[in-house]
Amino acid sequence: MSMKRIALLTSGGDAPGMNAAIRAVTRRALDRDWEVFGVERGYQGLMQSSFIPLNARDVGGIIQLGGTVLGSARAPEFATEAGRRTALHHLAKRGIDALIVIGGNGSQAGNHALSSMGFPTVGIASTIDNDLYGSEPTIGVDTALNVTIESIDRLRTTGSSHHRAHLVQTMGRDHGFLALMAGIAGGAEVVVIPEAEVEPDEIASRLRAAYLRGKTHSIVVVSEGCKNNAQAIAHHFEQHEDEIGFVVRVTILGHVVRGAAPTARDRLIATRMGVAAVDALADGQHGILVGYEGDEICRTPLEIVASNQKKLNLDWIQLARILAQ
Ligand code: F6P
Repeated sequence: MSMKRIALLTSGGDAPGMNAAIRAVTRRALDRDWEVFGVERGYQGLMQSSFIPLNARDVGGIIQLGGTVLGSARAPEFATEAGRRTALHHLAKRGIDALIVIGGNGSQAGNHALSSMGFPTVGIASTIDNDLYGSEPTIGVDTALNVTIESIDRLRTTGSSHHRAHLVQTMGRDHGFLALMAGIAGGAEVVVIPEAEVEPDEIASRLRAAYLRGKTHSIVVVSEGCKNNAQAIAHHFEQHEDEIGFVVRVTILGHVVRGAAPTARDRLIATRMGVAAVDALADGQHGILVGYEGDEICRTPLEIVASNQKKLNLDWIQLARILAQ
């Protein structure tokens, strides 16, 4: 089909680099003489017909900004067929030929559902959690990782001064991709992620052993989705201080890892994915996710994306332990 008019939206948790993708989609599409509409606040705005025309100047001065200038939302109503029918109605009324959805797991599941109803869509892989099948990494991971390791580095500095143990909790929802990468890049003594939980007593014994090996500080990186999150682990240490012999200080990073300015790497992959999403539509392809794999852009059917779970490389957990000696 020949394209005349496309719409794009950002959905779910914002990720640093989304703006670079918005800019790239818009300018690549304008270069092809297509019209571009931004949808405000993700699927919620789509169901409310919140379209704004985008020209080249509208996406100027945003490549360096975290967040998303289009706004984002979590829109449970879009999970219903009625919600998606409303969205399709507004898309048809505006004469939109295709939709580009920049987002993570939930957003691409919604995108798949819309595409299955016959509307041409393309996804762009974006989430700081890195848990989306079809892209390694996703947009935003590099920035969130850098914020996390900067915090780890600072905690190590003060930890060394005081011979203290610190727990640092980062985001990642139900998965430990971000925490594991941060643990390795930040040189953590222990990494605790949902895919490989470590009981508080075991954490205590590993920290004690590290201390006996002469370490002046200890860092434990915890992913927020763990059964024992950082607060629960710290609570256990307090409750059993007599047996364990020391307590731990807790830092919970939360949304701070999501709001940073995008790194060069995130800007570059977002830009390449934005261009590739428009080029895919120009090639007549839709119902796909544009992702990144081995330094190249890749395209994966949304059906495969929606029905597969990205696997964390468990060898890395072993590696983190070896390197913590
Ligand atoms: O999916 C991105 C993410 O930041 C997760 O890491 C986190 O669990 C979740 O979003 C937080 O969601 P919200 O911004 O809705 O509080």
